[in-house]
Amino acid sequence: LDTLIPLLRGAFTVGAAATFVRVYYFTLAGERVVARLRRNLFGSIINQDIAFFDKSRTGELINRLSADTAEMGKSFSGLTLSSGLRSTTQFVCALSIMLYLSPALTGVMVGVIPVGYIGARVYGKYVKTLSQEVQTALSKATAVAEERVGAVRTVRSFAHERREMKLYSMEVDNVFQLARRLGLVSATFFSSTTLAGNTALLGVLAYGAHLIRADLITAGTLTSFLLYTIYVGMSSVSMTSFYGEVMKGVGASTRVFELMDRIPHIDNVTGLTLQNLVGTVAFDNVSFRYPTRSELSIFDNLSFKVSPGSVLAVVGSSGSGKSTIASLLLRFYDPTKGRIVLDGTDIRDINPTWLRQQIGIVSQEPTLFAGTIAENILYGLDDETSDLFRDKYPNEVPPEVIHCAREANAHSFIMSFPDQYQTFVGEKGVSLSGGQKQRISIARALLKNPKILILDEATSALDAASEQLVQDALDRAVKNRTVIIIAHRLSTVKNADQIAVLDNGRIVEIGTHQDLMSRANSSYRQLMSIQLGISDSQLKQINMK
Ligand SMILES: Nc1ncnc2c1ncn2[C@@H]1O[C@H](COP(=O)(O)OP(=O)(O)OP(=O)(O)O)[C@@H](O)[C@H]1O
Ligand SMILES: [Mg+2]
Repeated sequence: LDTLIPLLRGAFTVGAAATFVRVYYFTLAGERVVARLRRNLFGSIINQDIAFFDKSRTGELINRLSADTAEMGKSFSGLTLSSGLRSTTQFVCALSIMLYLSPALTGVMVGVIPVGYIGARVYGKYVKTLSQEVQTALSKATAVAEERVGAVRTVRSFAHERREMKLYSMEVDNVFQLARRLGLVSATFFSSTTLAGNTALLGVLAYGAHLIRADLITAGTLTSFLLYTIYVGMSSVSMTSFYGEVMKGVGASTRVFELMDRIPHIDNVTGLTLQNLVGTVAFDNVSFRYPTRSELSIFDNLSFKVSPGSVLAVVGSSGSGKSTIASLLLRFYDPTKGRIVLDGTDIRDINPTWLRQQIGIVSQEPTLFAGTIAENILYGLDDETSDLFRDKYPNEVPPEVIHCAREANAHSFIMSFPDQYQTFVGEKGVSLSGGQKQRISIARALLKNPKILILDEATSALDAASEQLVQDALDRAVKNRTVIIIAHRLSTVKNADQIAVLDNGRIVEIGTHQDLMSRANSSYRQLMSIQLGISDSQLKQINMK
């Protein structure tokens, strides 16, 4: 005993170390796979074309990114695989020993194997489809939760908490029902295979007794044979549950790979980059329909040209397609007919990433990211310049950022916050006012210093005084740039080099403010008079003065 105990202690220590290594490294391998899957999937999602996002729900995508990949990780993790491998080895070894002990008895056992095999195949197929359905239902539930929680202010203001709870609970119930079916299928499968296995065991017992009576085997052989039978039974149960796990993973992976392999229609990285960009923008007989609403024509042979360094103002009633012009220029979508040309080159031939780097946009609904004000303004820079700034100003706000904030008339309100440029803006910038968000978004666009600037209702949320200040800055900013201004207010568009009036998918009038004002039956004058709340003739008179 004195020698045995240290020996055993040594053996146990080695065993523990081996278990540690096995669990740790197999878990690590599984988690690595999940991390890689998530990275690749996110890369694929973020590179999809905008049309894809028009019809996808954020929550569903998030669900694939988190839950589906986790499910895959669980099934393909090293631990599952290693236990699958272990049970397969056990199964084969035990079966070989049984064959050695008594081929005749093994024959009785082997009879169940095809039954088990067919059962497992059918079960596997069910598990695969069902788990896919569970994941789809789950992603619907996530989509509801994401949207409703994201818009909690709207939910609260309509006092619809109960309605949302009911909606979510319905979605969760769908998941539950599917999971229940999955449970039912598993229970049926495992109970019937256990029954089949035990029946075979009884068969072995009966036949074994017969063989003993005939003196063909000894009682000892039968006993050990039975032990191995139980062993085989146990390992086949764990083999099939391993198979079920893998099938679940296959179900989830279908959804992940479907998304990962989706090739966007607009490839973000291939195409020309233009040397010495001048900035002539032209729409050449552009017709356009949104892919998600292809029966509605937005533009029908729309043509216009903006010379470098000049300002085009686009006016028109709500829904006439003003913001769509910006989306097309940024190549979020391709026109259904005609072409958009930059310095004589069709933008479909230009590298979209490069193209978008040349365009600064202040969009109608400026979106900020959770982070500080400084970070949000710095978002305007490309990667290289960003790194340059980070090296140059590791611990302070770059003076360029402050300069652009001043230009956007944002500096003073930023300085009035206790944390100044390090103020957190909250998710999507919720902790700022509409006008403040707008001014930060202007600063962000100015910092980018783009050749082409698009201002989509950029000052709509500002009061008259702030607007005037920002307007002055923008008037300075438009120098040496091609600018497209979308605006309703007369004060903003009046000084543009050209004003285009958009109606019914076409430009109905284009010219300078003076031109359009003096035309007979001018729709521009009509738009403006409605806005100013005065009659057409009054406006005509004011303009004459
Ligand atoms: N992503 C989209 N998918 C489908 N249809 C869209 C999409 N975005 C806009 N539309 C439709 O295209 C038309 C033009 O929209 P757009 O946003 O360009 O109008 P707008 O002139 O900017 O209006 P507003 O002055 O209200 O901002 C509208 O009828 C709108 O419903
Ligand atoms: Mg718009």
